[in-house]
Amino acid sequence: MAAVDRFNLLYREISRSCSVYVEALAIVGAWYTVRKCLTLVFDTYSMLRLHVIPKLVGEIDIVKRYGRWAVVTGSTDGIGKAYAEELAKRGVNIILISRSKEKLEAVSRSISETYKVETDFIVADFSKGREAYQAIKEALKDREIGILVNNVGLFYTYPDYFTNLSEDMLWDMININIASANMMVHIVLPGMVEKRKGAIVNVSSASCCQPTPMLTIYGASKAYLDYFSRALYYEYASKGIFVQSLTPFVIATKMVACSSVTSKRSFFFPSAEEYASHAISTLGLSKRTPGYWKHSIEDKELILQYIVAFNGYFTAKARSKFISSALKSSDIENWRIVPRNNPASDYPSDFEVIQINEKQKDGVLTLEDHPNIKRVTPQRKVFRSLKYSDLVYSFAFEIIRGLAVPFKKCGDESVYNVETFLLQ
Ligand SMILES: NC(=O)c1ccc[n+]([C@@H]2O[C@H](COP(=O)([O-])OP(=O)(O)OC[C@H]3O[C@@H](n4cnc5c(N)ncnc54)[C@H](OP(=O)(O)O)[C@@H]3O)[C@@H](O)[C@H]2O)c1
Repeated sequence: MAAVDRFNLLYREISRSCSVYVEALAIVGAWYTVRKCLTLVFDTYSMLRLHVIPKLVGEIDIVKRYGRWAVVTGSTDGIGKAYAEELAKRGVNIILISRSKEKLEAVSRSISETYKVETDFIVADFSKGREAYQAIKEALKDREIGILVNNVGLFYTYPDYFTNLSEDMLWDMININIASANMMVHIVLPGMVEKRKGAIVNVSSASCCQPTPMLTIYGASKAYLDYFSRALYYEYASKGIFVQSLTPFVIATKMVACSSVTSKRSFFFPSAEEYASHAISTLGLSKRTPGYWKHSIEDKELILQYIVAFNGYFTAKARSKFISSALKSSDIENWRIVPRNNPASDYPSDFEVIQINEKQKDGVLTLEDHPNIKRVTPQRKVFRSLKYSDLVYSFAFEIIRGLAVPFKKCGDESVYNVETFLLQ
């Protein structure tokens, strides 16, 4: 009892001398809680303002606010086509720009018949650089353009290391993803400024918010678009021009068909039509938004981590798909991908190995000679960096499967780093 008394005494003494610290901590705690609550309230309000209220109060008159004609680049498929249709639904006349004349004719006819608006199209290949714009300038000369949607974009055929990309790919990415938006704005914006009204929508991507290894130049080009849009907004808002940066996460279009997960519409991955109908209702309301409420939390720390994790997952999946077809086309059937961890990276696709059954040595040679394979390098180094636990796991796994690939074989030419099996 005496001991307890002494303890209570001690505790009271300590509390008294620390009371000032306890109070300081209580103030910090209260400040943090209030801040978090206010953030939650503001976030909820802006989500409602952007995605719910416009649906309740009805559509704004886009023609009256911005003008009668809209130009949409990359508009024969995916988001561009769906966005053009949404604009047409609201009475806006549409000028489509893409590469394929047949597709342009078909989409143009379908929009004008369905929505009873005027349509026109310009055949242009943005990968050609400067030469593409003379025709566009000519075609748009006498048109009063109220809305410009810079949607055209190029993605990787499959995620890959920067140095594996061809020079053509580098220039295409710059010309299509970056230069096209610059040039289109340069052509159209003076007319908008003259009328003191207009809207420019630049379709960036959630990839603009994080570095995207293995999709390096795609993410970097989207970061360019995002900064370009945000700066333009400040330059031209006072002149009546609304510039919006759209930063969607995955939309199930043919662009992301290289992974079976992203090619299908699902709860988080809307179809292009679903996406466009949400995105258009944010026009004039938010200068930077994913345009879709389920993607709206992407600015938060948690979702940024999610993007990193998803990017790793997507990269691994898409690469595996291409590697599989490369191996299959080389008549190598008996192989498997062994996932493993490397503490130096978050990106799993860098750290997988392929085991090819020893009997298929001829197959390995075929693989080396195969025209679709860039290079095949035996990766003894890879074996050395394998963690002990992974080796044990992979050995046990082999025994269970009854394959019993001798363990020591992992270090020789039957093990290849995934990066070495890539389609041209
Ligand atoms: N899908 C996604 O998950 C996602 C996510 C975030 C952001 N984005 C961005 O959204 C935009 C549209 O993507 P999407 O998924 O709708 O793409 P998509 O389905 O592949 O459609 C691309 C469109 O661009 C046209 N196009 C392609 N290369 C062209 C070129 N060199 N010159 C002129 N037109 C060209 C294509 O038509 P032709 O082949 O007939 O020319 C097609 O109409 C892109 O900027 C993309 O980066 C997409």
